[in-house]
Amino acid sequence: MSNRNELMNRRNFVAGSLASRTALLGGANAWAQVVPLHCVPPLPPLPGVEFVPATGGPVRIRKSVFELTPAEVTRLKAAYAALRNVYRDDPRSWYNQGLVHCWYCSGALDNLNGMEIHGGWLFLAWHRAYLYFHERILGNLIGDPTFALPYWDWDSCRDDANDMTGRNRFPGEVYGFPNSSSNPLHDLSRAVGPNDRIPPIYVGPAAMKPIMTSASFTEFGGSGNQELPRRTPEVGDAQQMGQIEGGPHGVPHVWTTEPTLDRNKPPMPNMGALASAAFDPVFFAHHANIDRLWDVWAQGAGHANPDNPRWLNQFFLFYDHLQTWTGITISQTTNAETSLSYRYQPPAWPPGPPAPPAAAVAARTAPRFAEAPPLSPPLVELSTGSQPKVLAPRPTTVQVAIPQEAKAKIRTLAAPTSPQKLVLRIDGVELPADRSVVVQVYVNRPDITAPARGAERGYVGSIVIVPSTSSGAGHVHAKVQRNFGFALTPELAASLAAQDNISVTLVPVTGDATKSTEVFRYQRVYLASR
Ligand code: C2O
Repeated sequence: MSNRNELMNRRNFVAGSLASRTALLGGANAWAQVVPLHCVPPLPPLPGVEFVPATGGPVRIRKSVFELTPAEVTRLKAAYAALRNVYRDDPRSWYNQGLVHCWYCSGALDNLNGMEIHGGWLFLAWHRAYLYFHERILGNLIGDPTFALPYWDWDSCRDDANDMTGRNRFPGEVYGFPNSSSNPLHDLSRAVGPNDRIPPIYVGPAAMKPIMTSASFTEFGGSGNQELPRRTPEVGDAQQMGQIEGGPHGVPHVWTTEPTLDRNKPPMPNMGALASAAFDPVFFAHHANIDRLWDVWAQGAGHANPDNPRWLNQFFLFYDHLQTWTGITISQTTNAETSLSYRYQPPAWPPGPPAPPAAAVAARTAPRFAEAPPLSPPLVELSTGSQPKVLAPRPTTVQVAIPQEAKAKIRTLAAPTSPQKLVLRIDGVELPADRSVVVQVYVNRPDITAPARGAERGYVGSIVIVPSTSSGAGHVHAKVQRNFGFALTPELAASLAAQDNISVTLVPVTGDATKSTEVFRYQRVYLASR
C-alpha cells in the first residue's frame, strides 16, 4: 500500500532477520538491570500497523512529580506495579519496554540494534512516541484512561548552587520512597542522596535560556540523522547534536548514578548508560521533562519544527497497549494534544503568584526557520585540523587574536536585532561508547581552573554525553562524531568585539587525575555565524 507500509515491512524484515528471538534470555530479575546482553524486542512476523490518533478520549494531564497528590502517587505506583507484574514474555512487559530503548540506541552487548535515535533530530520525536506508548500501556493496565506520566522538572531551580529550594534534586519522595524493591518506582542502581543537587550551571535559568531561545530546531533539537553511524564526515558536515540533548538531557542521566557528574569507570548503573537507562522508572519522568521543554520551545515566538519530509515521514515501531506492533511517524507526534491526547500542566515554580496565562506570553509569529540556515565560513579559528585533539583531564585554554575583519562582523552580530547570531562551534566531538563525558565551555575565562556549579560569567554551555553502554561492547557509538554549537548572547558578542583576543576554555568535569588522559576528543573549535 503506502510507501510507509512497505518501509515498515522492509525494516521489520531486516530487524527480524537479526532477531533470532534471543531477547527473552538474560537475568530473571529486571529490577536492578544492567546493560542487557541482547535487546531486540520480540519482533512479530507481521509488518507494523499504522498509528491512528485516539479520538474522543480524555486529554491526559502530565504534572510535575513534585506536585502530584497522594492519590496520584498511589496511582503511579499501582501502574508500575502492574507493569512489573506483566508476564515477561509479553511485549508490553517492563523488561521488554526497557529493551526497546536499548534497541533504538545501539546499546546491547550483541550488536543487534535498531536505528540510532540519539545524537540528532530523531531524539525528541522518538522519545515522545516512546513515552506515549509507555503511558498508554500503564493506563491500560490499571484501567485508567486519564493516567499520565509525571515530569521531573530539574530546570525549576535557581542559578545559585547553594540554593536548596529547587527541583534540581532527585524526586525521592516518589521514586525513591520506600527505598527498596517493595516500591515499583525504585531502582537499586541509583546513587543519589536526598541532599544532592544537580549543579544549576547545567540546568538553571542561565543555562536554559540560550537553549530555550534557540532560533532553529537544528540548534535546539539537532540536525539530520544520516542513519550511517559509522560514517566520519568532513568536519562541519557531521550531524549536530541539539543543545537540549547534548547538554541538560545528559545531566540527570549521569547524575542519578553519580552525583559528582563524574562517572568514567564501568560498570555504570542503569540511568548512566543509554542501553540500560529505561530500566529505571525515573527515566520516564526525566524524559517527560525533556518532552515538555520541546513543547515549550516549539510554542515560542518564531520557533518551528522541521518541515523536512525526511524528518516528518520518519517512523518508529512500538508495541501499543493492545500488544499491536505499531508504526508512528514523526508528523503524528508534533502536536501532542491533538494527536497524542496529552498536555503539560506548567510547573508551579518558582513559588509565588502564578505565571501569566499562556495567551499573554507570545502571539505565534511566523517561524524564521526550522532547520538552521547554513553556517558562515569560520570568522575566528581557535583550533583547526582534521586530526582529533585530546583534552586532558584538566582545564585547557586556547587563545587567538581576533582578526580585524572578524571584529567588524562580530560587532554587527552583537546587535540584539541581528537576524544572525554569533556561534561557538566545537566540531568532530567523538562520542565515547563506554564513558560519560561532561565538559564545560567558557569564552574569555582563562582563569577558570575547576568546574563551576552555579551560573558563571562567560559560560556558554556544556557537552554532556551519556555513553551507550558500560562496557564498550555494542560499540556502534564509538568513533561516531557529532558537532556542537553554542549561540553567544549579544552581551558576550559585544564584549568580544571590543577585545583583541578570544579564548575558549574547556573544563572537563573529572575528579580523578589518575584517569585515562583520553577524556574528550574533538577536531575543531571556531566562531561562525548563522
Ligand atoms: Cu534515549 Cu535520555 O535517552
